[in-house]
Amino acid sequence: MKYRHAFHAGNFADAHKHATLLALLRALARKDKGFLLLDTHAGRGGYDLSSSEAHRSHEADEGIERLLDVTPPAAPSGDGSAGAAWPAEIADYLAVVQSFRRERHDRAAYPGSPLISLLALRPQDRAVFIETQPAEHAALREAVSQLARYAPTGIAAARRSVVERATMECADGYARLSTWLPPLERRALVLIDPPYEDAAGDQRALERAVLEILTRLPSAVVALWYPIKEARETTAWIDRLTSRLPKPPDAAVMPWLVSEVCVHPPDSRVGLNGSGMLVVNPPWQLAERMRVWMPAMHHAFDPLGRGRWTARERAG
Ligand SMILES: C[S@@+](CC[C@H](N)C(=O)[O-])C[C@H]1O[C@@H](n2cnc3c(N)ncnc32)[C@H](O)[C@@H]1O
Repeated sequence: MKYRHAFHAGNFADAHKHATLLALLRALARKDKGFLLLDTHAGRGGYDLSSSEAHRSHEADEGIERLLDVTPPAAPSGDGSAGAAWPAEIADYLAVVQSFRRERHDRAAYPGSPLISLLALRPQDRAVFIETQPAEHAALREAVSQLARYAPTGIAAARRSVVERATMECADGYARLSTWLPPLERRALVLIDPPYEDAAGDQRALERAVLEILTRLPSAVVALWYPIKEARETTAWIDRLTSRLPKPPDAAVMPWLVSEVCVHPPDSRVGLNGSGMLVVNPPWQLAERMRVWMPAMHHAFDPLGRGRWTARERAG
């Protein structure tokens, strides 16, 4: 395994994934009952965008830094915000990143999915982070313990408990599904964010993992990130995956939605044309909200409009 997320931290795909993750966490928190956040491919937790890896790729310049720099679009009518303002979900994501930076006194710090989750979870929630590379896992442990130290000012003291109780395992995220699911709470958000170094192998593992999660807990919210290189092939894979979702006990079909942001035309050979998220069992109104925040995000990343944004769904 050679994959190092440090080269890609904070790029447009991370921003798309992390803003979606945060919106899912906020949606699950609308109910008082606690839930389990299971992050199967957690990475190292925190990233330094001034590191040599990040500096070599400059990917964050066209991701998080672009969002922080550009003027937000005029608010669409009916969005509840006045004048030029980011839709609530993007504003929330930017506020989390900025408060993390303020806390560290470091404007090049960037929180990965574990830290974003821990900054949003409540005392009644639980978090489990699985990472297979020992060095990344060790860095994740350090990042989470630092968060616990900063927590008194960074997040309300009451919320510190979720950080202190977070479980971190150095293991194969797919193999650990059977240990963690179904959770006692009977509510879970599972983030699956593999490196796709072996794209075909990862796709097969993902198909099995999604089925296993939904068999163990049919109501689980599953958020799966995927890269878009050849759009036609990616769409065919997502169609195959969604057509094989198990039938839930209380509905005719399992609901899902797909959100994609592409910054290049679908057939260009640049490497990464776009970023996709498949969300199975999406929370109420997520699709409607995505139709507000996705065009704003897409315009910031792709002002010349070479790519596109998509939010399509199958309701349950
Ligand atoms: C895209 S990165 C994760 C980034 C992280 N989710 C974030 O958003 O900040 C993928 C990570 O998965 C790890 N990984 C690869 N295969 C794995 C497996 N089978 N189980 C758990 N982690 C794995 C890699 O070492 C890498 O750190």
